Amino acid sequence: MRVLSGIQPSGSLHIGNFFGMMKSMIEWQNKSELYCFIVNLHALTSLNDGPTLAKNTLDAAMDFLALGLDPEKSVFWVQGDVPEHTELTWILHNFTSMGLLERSHSYKDKISRGLVPNHGLFAYPVLMAADILLYQANLVPVGQDQKQHLEITRDIAGTFNHIFGPTFTIPEPGIDENLATIPGLDGQKMSKSYNNAINIFISKEELKKRVMAIVTDAKAVEDIKDPDSCHLFAIARLFLTPDKLAELKERYLKPGLKYGEVKKELVETIWEYFAPYREKREDLARRPDEVRSIMRYGAEKARKKAQETLEKVREKVGLNY
Ligand code: ADP
Ligand code: TRP
Repeated sequence: MRVLSGIQPSGSLHIGNFFGMMKSMIEWQNKSELYCFIVNLHALTSLNDGPTLAKNTLDAAMDFLALGLDPEKSVFWVQGDVPEHTELTWILHNFTSMGLLERSHSYKDKISRGLVPNHGLFAYPVLMAADILLYQANLVPVGQDQKQHLEITRDIAGTFNHIFGPTFTIPEPGIDENLATIPGLDGQKMSKSYNNAINIFISKEELKKRVMAIVTDAKAVEDIKDPDSCHLFAIARLFLTPDKLAELKERYLKPGLKYGEVKKELVETIWEYFAPYREKREDLARRPDEVRSIMRYGAEKARKKAQETLEKVREKVGLNY
């Protein structure tokens, strides 16, 4: 089975990205053929700052590698290094109805939040369809928010296959219904756009600042607390073993718990959790050229598969003469 997913390098990666996507992606590499990539062309739709995009792309690559993504076991690359993505996108535009894109929740949502849309943002789902169809992926693990994009991909593939005969594998979305959205410091979805995230590789000082800023209720020390509605508990649970979690829950249900103490413990727990990866991350940061060459190697592997599909498509639509 071929599993494929991408992540935008639009800001530093945070623990919501880690538990929501990166961790399970990295686990897939032992169970399937994994294609994982950094979607810098998608990030261009909302980030027009060259040096920042370039830095975020290299940082995201280092983060994934440090967290255990193995470039030998998997195919790991940067989207913009494989020109077949954009060529297939143009071809697919011609099999995508305007109405399909006009109904996109993600597009409508971004406009309603005041973003002035460009054509790239409107066409975003077509590039995503090309990403997936180029590699004939069977399963695409994504968050709930990407479900409609997967439906658009399936629609475009279906239209193409109907006209030209079986060409693209129709992908299945891999949405983990049990995976709760990880809250940020303020209890909203943790997101790089809301300034409420705890980034994975930050200094201990910064980590302390962030954890101390987690919003809790105004209950007094002697009050009994509710773990289920507490953002601090929701974040802590990601890092704790079942035993430690049960212990913490008990402390919530008895008088005497101080949120400040739980926060101090959480700083240590998070720091320890990422410790083995932090060393690797620091080491990679000292060797950026090596990381660039790992990504180029991944792009070469990806291109082989991409060219195979694109060649079939070019033949069918009449671009080969
Ligand atoms: P952000 O909201 O920070 O911009 P993205 O939309 O780029 O993050 O998400 C990248 C991946 O991380 C997606 O697969 C998404 O489902 C996952 N993800 C992001 N934030 C969270 C969260 N708070 N909880 C769970 N998963 C998340
Ligand atoms: N749109 C996805 C997101 O914002 C990222 C993405 C781009 C993607 N291309 C993809 C995810 C292909 C899965 C497969 O999270």
